[in-house]
Amino acid sequence: MNNRFNKIINLCMIVILLLLAIPSRASAVERRPLPKLVNEASINEVIKGMTLDEKVRLVIGIGYPGPNGVAGATYAIPHLGIPSVILSDGPAGIRIGGNFTPDIPIKTSTAFPIPSLLSATWDVNQVKEVAKSFGKEAREYGVDVLLAPGVNIQRDPLGGRNFEYYSEDPFLAGTIATAFIKGVQSMGVGTSLKHFAVNNQETNRTTINVVISERALREIYLPAFEMAVKQAKPWTVMSSYNAVNGSFSTQNKYLLTDILRKEWGFDGVVMSDWWAVKNSFAALAFGNDLIMPGVYKGKLPMPDLIKDVYNNASAPTPDLIKAAIQNGTLSENTIDSCARNILKMIIKTPTFKGEYRNIDYSHKKALTQQTEEEGARINRKVASEGMVLLKNADNTLPFKGLNTIGVAGQNSVVDVTNGKLGIIIGGGGSSQVNVNPKNVVSLIRGLKNANYNVLNSRGKNKMIEGLSTSDAAYLAKRTDIGLVSIGRISTEGIDRLDMNMKSEEVQLIKDLSAAYHAKKKKLVVVLNIGAPIEVASWRDYADAILLAWQPGQEAGNAIADILSGKVNPSGKLPETFPVKYSDVPSYGNFPGDTNTNTVDYAEGIYVGYRYYDTKHIKPAYAFGHGLSYTNFTYDNLKLSSTKMRLNKSKSLTLSVDISNEGKVAGKEIVQLYIHHNNSKFERPYKELKGFEKISLQPGQTKTVTFPISKRSLSIYNEALKTWVSEPGLFKVLVGSSSQDIRQKSELRIVDNK
Ligand code: GLC
Repeated sequence: MNNRFNKIINLCMIVILLLLAIPSRASAVERRPLPKLVNEASINEVIKGMTLDEKVRLVIGIGYPGPNGVAGATYAIPHLGIPSVILSDGPAGIRIGGNFTPDIPIKTSTAFPIPSLLSATWDVNQVKEVAKSFGKEAREYGVDVLLAPGVNIQRDPLGGRNFEYYSEDPFLAGTIATAFIKGVQSMGVGTSLKHFAVNNQETNRTTINVVISERALREIYLPAFEMAVKQAKPWTVMSSYNAVNGSFSTQNKYLLTDILRKEWGFDGVVMSDWWAVKNSFAALAFGNDLIMPGVYKGKLPMPDLIKDVYNNASAPTPDLIKAAIQNGTLSENTIDSCARNILKMIIKTPTFKGEYRNIDYSHKKALTQQTEEEGARINRKVASEGMVLLKNADNTLPFKGLNTIGVAGQNSVVDVTNGKLGIIIGGGGSSQVNVNPKNVVSLIRGLKNANYNVLNSRGKNKMIEGLSTSDAAYLAKRTDIGLVSIGRISTEGIDRLDMNMKSEEVQLIKDLSAAYHAKKKKLVVVLNIGAPIEVASWRDYADAILLAWQPGQEAGNAIADILSGKVNPSGKLPETFPVKYSDVPSYGNFPGDTNTNTVDYAEGIYVGYRYYDTKHIKPAYAFGHGLSYTNFTYDNLKLSSTKMRLNKSKSLTLSVDISNEGKVAGKEIVQLYIHHNNSKFERPYKELKGFEKISLQPGQTKTVTFPISKRSLSIYNEALKTWVSEPGLFKVLVGSSSQDIRQKSELRIVDNK
């Protein structure tokens, strides 16, 4: 018995010793090093190592305002090597602190021109150069992702954020956006392509439902996003406030998953616009990875612009999302997928790479002087390239042998440095830049910097209303030429009520015109605006009209560069200036029915010049219009072939010779439009399918070539749910504007049968 008992005891001892020798799971787990985010290959391990609490925190921003007044930031999980990354506006410069966060000291940046001016350059190289400056300033301030560019189509000239967008035409908008994204991301800083999608008005922007045909969606409102996603690969896309055909963009599976990710292959992060998410679970489940910005932590009372969006949002909390996962409303795989997209973005950022290790994030940090000076230089250069000379009767411009200029108009008379409304350098809202006032060059200062004597009405800082006819005579007598500046502000959050001039503005132009013409002198009007304005009622009184847009801080210098002839204007309109608002295709359907909160895009694919040309409605100034101080001829249009086979994807090449016939160097924007003679589908009369800006010395000729692809000749077939090209005869139209076609040819798509 004893022996047997001893054996059992020995056996137990052996088992115990064996058990003690096997490391416990807990200690094994404790001993296994925690996963760390080091690269893309580590992401799955990191996600496995995250607790559910950490996952649900990662998909929501850390709150607004973000650190030091930036727009927002992501959640850090330090023990897994996941830093918080900084997201900052905007499309006209780096915005840190300021307008929505009055209690946070601002950081000044270069106030670049509004995006509409960038697209008015039609120059991808210029846009890339400016975008690199954005990236440089973002790096100096430790910004990881710039919340730009905005590429929504300028559907209606009253759209409040038109200034912040590029064009009424998706090809131009997409091409400019692609250049901008490449420029910023070449500096190692990410971008956010926004606002996806069909966000074309400010009225009720957080609740409005856009009713739109599939074809209009595909041919007008999505192509700029598609081009930018495929050709520039933005790190992030920002989903918009509005709903599209009954489903809010932030939780619109068709837009965010079926189209953006599956069709276009987008593999970055979709973040929501600020407080745009209505249903967190739906948003996360349908493709919106990151819910921005998180809780409001700003000073109360909330600024109006924030209150408007905040009140229509659902306040997503980690606990809510965690509970949804635990009760099966939301699968953990979904959160893992969102986390994966966010981590893939984070590992690209300068913060993650340690490049911002020595950044001073305090409000004391300002841009280096060199960066400030470079920003100003690039601003001045691109601003003069995007300004559009709309009229120049009898070569009024450039100034020849003039030295004293009479200036009138509210935006020219006062200087922004004295705190009053002076030159308008940009738009309001999230794109507004905290510019150093000493860096702002008003129109008067710009003219003086160019060594002109400037006289305004009786030398007083008279506002526009105060200028009387006798003032006009006073100015006309004492100056060589008159100049009136007409300004309009633009801002996020509010659509414009009209595009009219004030009667006193028109009267001022008439009075000055009469006074200067009586002295055999001339009058120039400078438009300091962010979107089209009515011109038909007064343009005959002006000898020249320069569209200066809202050109950034170097405004006055850039305007003076054009007026003096130092720079030969080369900008062209990216949006039509209609004669009157009732001509506009969305007239009556903008901003929609505020009772039903629905806006009907009844005009469908007929937006901008697509409408005016098809309906034979003459615009005041056409899409693509812009004059130069020289003139160009177009000759020798050639096609590599006049036939395309229906089911062959081969593209053709079009070439055309452009010559500078004038006495000064200049730049011409050559535009290629296509027209289908006998389509069995509805089609706009013409559509932009190519453009190139070239520099020509006097007497120089260059050959410009354009590829013509099958897709560029196709339409979106709603029944087949895909792009289709149809056989038939196409015209290729090459011109200096959509209304100034200089060379034509034809090509045929032949059915192989
Ligand atoms: C805004 C804008 C968006 C901006 C964001 C952060 O409401 O719609 O363009 O990037 O909030 O400021």
